[in-house]
Amino acid sequence: MSNPHSDALVFFGATGDLAYKKIFPALQSMIQHGKLDVPVIGVAKAGWNLDQFKARAKDSLEKHGGLDADAWQKLSGLLGYVDGDYAELATFQAVRAALGAAKHPAHYLAIPPSLFEKVVEQLVKSSSAEGARIIVEKPFGHDLASAQELNRILHSAFDESAIFRIDHYLAKNPVHNMVSFRFANSFMDTMWDRHHVESVQITMAEDFGIQGRGVFYDQTGTIRDVIQNHIFQVMSNLAMEPPARNDSESLRDEKVKVLKSIPPLVPENLVRGQFKGYRDEKGVASDSKVETFAALRLELNSWRWQGVPFYIRAGKNLPVTCMEIIARFRKPPATNFNTDVPQNYLRIRLSPEMTVAMALSVAPVSEGGKREIVELVASRHPRPGEMEAYERVLSDAMAGDATLFARQDYVEEAWRIVDPVLKATTPVYEYEPNTWGPDEVDQRIVPSGGWDKPNMEEPEDFRIVSET
Ligand code: BG6
Repeated sequence: MSNPHSDALVFFGATGDLAYKKIFPALQSMIQHGKLDVPVIGVAKAGWNLDQFKARAKDSLEKHGGLDADAWQKLSGLLGYVDGDYAELATFQAVRAALGAAKHPAHYLAIPPSLFEKVVEQLVKSSSAEGARIIVEKPFGHDLASAQELNRILHSAFDESAIFRIDHYLAKNPVHNMVSFRFANSFMDTMWDRHHVESVQITMAEDFGIQGRGVFYDQTGTIRDVIQNHIFQVMSNLAMEPPARNDSESLRDEKVKVLKSIPPLVPENLVRGQFKGYRDEKGVASDSKVETFAALRLELNSWRWQGVPFYIRAGKNLPVTCMEIIARFRKPPATNFNTDVPQNYLRIRLSPEMTVAMALSVAPVSEGGKREIVELVASRHPRPGEMEAYERVLSDAMAGDATLFARQDYVEEAWRIVDPVLKATTPVYEYEPNTWGPDEVDQRIVPSGGWDKPNMEEPEDFRIVSET
């Protein structure tokens, strides 16, 4: 069998935060949906035994989504635990022993990338890498050179087809659905290009700060944390050509082509901001120049998109939590008959709910009245029991389906685009929490028609946005 289902899951970093918040709940959901029936071995250096590990797993489920007694009973029976140092071969020999007859384990590295090399080396030495898959978490490197080095390390033991680089954004239903929305609607086929679209803006706003992650965040910043990965994935889904076939590589080929068309980001097309109070956060340097906000402008030098600027804005402590795309269409010609024509736009919201809204200009209701812009809205909130991102990535990786994972060439292209500004010392401007970033944004990086301010009211089916 060329693409066997993984017959065990080993996860490194098993006593960490990610496991507590995301992995145990995902494992329980996989059991509920009949997708997990193989040993699950946690590995960490915490001085724990299996009972302590199980207690942590149970606590995680109680705090994150709720414990399902039947699913927990099953999960508890599948759990194993190896306590040990990642530098010692004995730890990995214990993993191999715990794997028993498993021939195709999936090793999930929920650990800092600085430990990858050590772990990969030991997996090889302990014969745990043969026939195995490896799943790695973001951040995948901190610039182009370090990402290339990580790829070298992974490829020293695993074929690219056995490597699954997680970007949990890809596994969110609304992000994935953008692709089918684009290619399942014929009006998108005729309108979605440089002839009709004037500009595209993508906003990823979060109304909270760095949530105690000062040490991590101060080495990372917004560009590395969410733009180079999550937002670029969204942008690729928006801009790619239809894949030639329905397999993972055909889709990933198209996404890489989008990134290849983008020249490196130059400092003039970037404004970085830092919210007031960031430097007082625990783990943050008192003179930190790390950004908690960034606004940038990219050009896509492709047949479809040349001349259409893509604006990106992301930050912490902004007024709302929302991920939204606005594509503004070129105006129809203004004539004597048709003077003050407004601008149509397409709005795609990816969170907190999925919305697709088309803004139209409609005739005034009464004689002498004003034209109105209205939105035709299709919107829905996530439904209970819907598959969460981590359940999907783990299930897909164990099934060997790479569609929702970042391929080596994609990751390296994404770093290539931001690499120059990561190395440049561009200014970082302060902004007040609960605002849309520093004032410099509105002076330097502004889509025509301005930045959209996401409206967080529950959408109606037919909403009046403005009158002209
Ligand atoms: C993570 C970032 O990758 O994504 C966080 O490290 C960010 O800073 C988070 O808040 C956003 O993901 P989600 O799924 O909560 O929207």
